[in-house]
Amino acid sequence: MAVDKSGQRVRAMFAQIARRYDFLNHFLSGGTDVYWRWRTARAVSVPAGPILDVCTGTGDLAFAFRRRLGDDVAIIGTDFTHEMLVLAQR
Ligand SMILES: C[S@@+](CC[C@H](N)C(=O)[O-])C[C@H]1O[C@@H](n2cnc3c(N)ncnc32)[C@H](O)[C@@H]1O
Repeated sequence: MAVDKSGQRVRAMFAQIARRYDFLNHFLSGGTDVYWRWRTARAVSVPAGPILDVCTGTGDLAFAFRRRLGDDVAIIGTDFTHEMLVLAQR
């Protein structure tokens, strides 16, 4: 049976797990998710312009860039799941 990967289904899934997303990520990855976001933020050379974090979710990668770059560079996070963005905003 084909898995429903429609945008609607994906959004509903992330809306449902939003509150547990960070915990699940850290727990299921044994904490390596923190390390790979830290690495990613360091792998990118300092941009001249804003950073766009697409599918930012609860914002952890955007925050890793913020910790590295300070306030000098605008960082914009986008996502189609409102519940995830609310947690990122908080
Ligand atoms: C696995 S999470 C990653 C979140 C974050 N980047 C991180 O490092 O933890 C994927 C995110 O992508 C978003 N997403 C998935 N498909 C999308 C689409 N077509 N347009 C916008 N957001 C989408 C989901 O809502 C979810 O918040």
